[in-house]
Amino acid sequence: MSGGWSIYIVVLTALNLIGLIWLLLATAAKPKNPKPASETMGHVWDGDIEELNNPLPRWWFGLFVLTFIFGFGYLALYPGLGTFKGSLGWTSAGEVQAELDATHAKLESLFASFRDQPLAALVDNPAATKVGRNVFANNCAACHGSDARGATGYPNLVDGDWLYGGDPETVLASIMDGRHGMMPPMVATLPGNGVEEVANYALSLSGLAHDARLAAAGKPKFETICAACHGVDGKGNHALGAPNLTDDIWLHGNATLEGIKHTITYGANGVMPTWGPILGEDRARLAAAWILAQGKSSIESERNDAAETGAAR
Ligand code: HEC
Ligand code: HEC
Repeated sequence: MSGGWSIYIVVLTALNLIGLIWLLLATAAKPKNPKPASETMGHVWDGDIEELNNPLPRWWFGLFVLTFIFGFGYLALYPGLGTFKGSLGWTSAGEVQAELDATHAKLESLFASFRDQPLAALVDNPAATKVGRNVFANNCAACHGSDARGATGYPNLVDGDWLYGGDPETVLASIMDGRHGMMPPMVATLPGNGVEEVANYALSLSGLAHDARLAAAGKPKFETICAACHGVDGKGNHALGAPNLTDDIWLHGNATLEGIKHTITYGANGVMPTWGPILGEDRARLAAAWILAQGKSSIESERNDAAETGAAR
């Protein structure tokens, strides 16, 4: 605020206060030559309701005086008069900072209690996974879904199938350092009917309907070109984030000939942001613990479902 504005506001505020005090005193003053107590203003409603001109009752006058005292006190202690900061030095930013510091101090003691426990132990610690759930909901759910079951292009984190590996330290590394799964467009290395043949072979790997003749022609091409990343058996490679092509889990949702041909032709790129600098290790570990706990319980419940249907047979 420039000096001119500040002076303008101070003068305006002072004039207002002076004006109000004058108004209060002027209306409260006893009339010079006392008239009968019930002088009327000459206004009458509903036949017999008259407007009288009585001075303010004392207690009411007192209330107004108190509001002035409060007002002057406030303006002396807190910012209100132009750029004058008030003698307490209060600012709204300072208040927010104080609240943040208090929250951080509280969280710090919470995190400290989890810090000395290995990640694998946090997975079974409900207090830890509860905090981890919030970290996940606030930072990760937009891509991986609030239940961590993913979406096309964003991996399901609780199905037990991992692009980069599912042991606690690897999951934590995926979160802290981010990941970039890169499959280049392969069309140039597959001239002629190559894309069609390799795509049929890829379908055959996961037992999907395919053309056996084309797949047989695609097999050697897969083994020379694709195996470098996806492995000779097509089971993928955690070091590169190359998906397992022999299961029925599809990162890019393409369990069809067209979908697979599209991936082979144009390649695929999955980027997991680097969370280390944003979250810090404490929060990243808790998010990892929640994911792993979710994975554990969803895999167990599937196993139980399978056991139940087995028993029912
Ligand atoms: C902008 C979208 C996005 C956000 C936000 C995001 N992720 Fe990811 N995440 C991805 C993608 C995409 C991949 C797969 C990378 C690839 O294809 O190679 C991935 C991969 C992962 C993996 C490795 C999965 C595997 O199978 O090995 C983990 C673990 C993971 N994310 C956890 C998290 C956590 C925890 C958060 C929140 C702190 C998070 N992600 C936030 C997009 C995101
Ligand atoms: C340079 C390593 C590399 C090579 C070579 C490669 N891929 Fe990939 N492929 C990947 C990666 C990494 C991904 C996952 C991309 C992502 O994270 O989004 C992928 C994804 C795929 C997918 C999608 C899987 C899903 O779950 O949706 C298919 C299908 C596929 N590759 C087939 C092939 C075939 C067929 C070839 C050979 C013509 C091939 N790839 C060659 C690295 C490779």
